[in-house]
Amino acid sequence: MKGRADPEMTSGAPLDAHERRISYLRVSVTDRCNLRCVYCMPQEGIDLVPMEDVLSYEEIRDVVRVAASMGLRRVRLTGGEPLARKGLVDLVGMISALPGIEEVALSTNGIVLARHAESLARAGLSRVNVSLDTLQPERFRSITRGGRLEDVLEGIDAARAAGLTPVKLNVVVMQGMNDDEALDFARSTIDEDWQVRFIELMPFTALENTGQQPAPSVAFVSNGTVRRRIEEALGPLQPESRDGNGPARYYRLPGAKGRIGFISPLTEEGFCGRCNRMRLTATGKLRPCLLTDHEIDLMPSLRGGGGEDGIRRGIVAALASKPDAHHLGDGNRPRRRRMIQIGG
Ligand code: 5AD
Ligand code: SF4
Repeated sequence: MKGRADPEMTSGAPLDAHERRISYLRVSVTDRCNLRCVYCMPQEGIDLVPMEDVLSYEEIRDVVRVAASMGLRRVRLTGGEPLARKGLVDLVGMISALPGIEEVALSTNGIVLARHAESLARAGLSRVNVSLDTLQPERFRSITRGGRLEDVLEGIDAARAAGLTPVKLNVVVMQGMNDDEALDFARSTIDEDWQVRFIELMPFTALENTGQQPAPSVAFVSNGTVRRRIEEALGPLQPESRDGNGPARYYRLPGAKGRIGFISPLTEEGFCGRCNRMRLTATGKLRPCLLTDHEIDLMPSLRGGGGEDGIRRGIVAALASKPDAHHLGDGNRPRRRRMIQIGG
């Protein structure tokens, strides 16, 4: 069965220097986006990388093919907004056909998902995660600077109809912006068979270094606080026995169809110890850790004649240099790239 955290599926995956099995590659296909979320993008957008510096779909496929030959089994396409890049369905088809690839998933803001869900599923996509920070149309418009909530909800429906399930909703909780909606999101899992995942805001400081207008200050709320509020209002959350093999810890409200997950990179002890992934940026850099700036450039292999051997050496180097943890508590910060340039 596809998309489940069973040992058979990941046992062939390579170990990193800290004995974590790395079975999962997140691939950012573009730094472009059709929204301007206040915590992510300045109003005027960011300096985009020129298209010639962005990996072609064939180049992405070549990297994924080598990764799969080394035991990586799952791929997630991210952005920016991945559906903002033309022909994404073709890439899904190219990657899902590769030997060894068990699952291809997509992270999207959902704005144009309704239009593409069916063809994505036909091309071999397994599932989608949709970023959704509010269930209130007016608020959605202001957080995303102009997006229509209705489009996203239609996208979610289309994804479910196309079998891209379970749909996971990613909610970044921000004080004074949407933290008052935690209960609404939690309640929505009673009747909807989706998974609502509360994500702790991560300190991306890239905004400070660009000379562009900084994002409005957005304040962190711990998932401990979110969980306490939910339990005070709705009763104890029941831990799920099958946690999946991602970063989330899952719970269920009694009798609920859906689940509630918490992704707590800042407050969960041992969060990084369960890390199973690395990242490929749209410009061909392997990034072993989301929150650490160290990267390995695959461009010399992809365009400078290094070939498959070069890609393999790059992946080996990424495995060897993946830090044990993000060390945000000791002052480490990702400064070189924004979230949108890594893909979350
Ligand atoms: N912390 C946590 N999540 C973030 N995202 C964007 N910026 C941050 C941040 N600083 C999320 C978006 C979306 C994906 C692109 O990453 O909400 O789910
Ligand atoms: Fe686009 Fe996601 Fe950033 Fe919002 S958070 S601007 S949807 S990339």
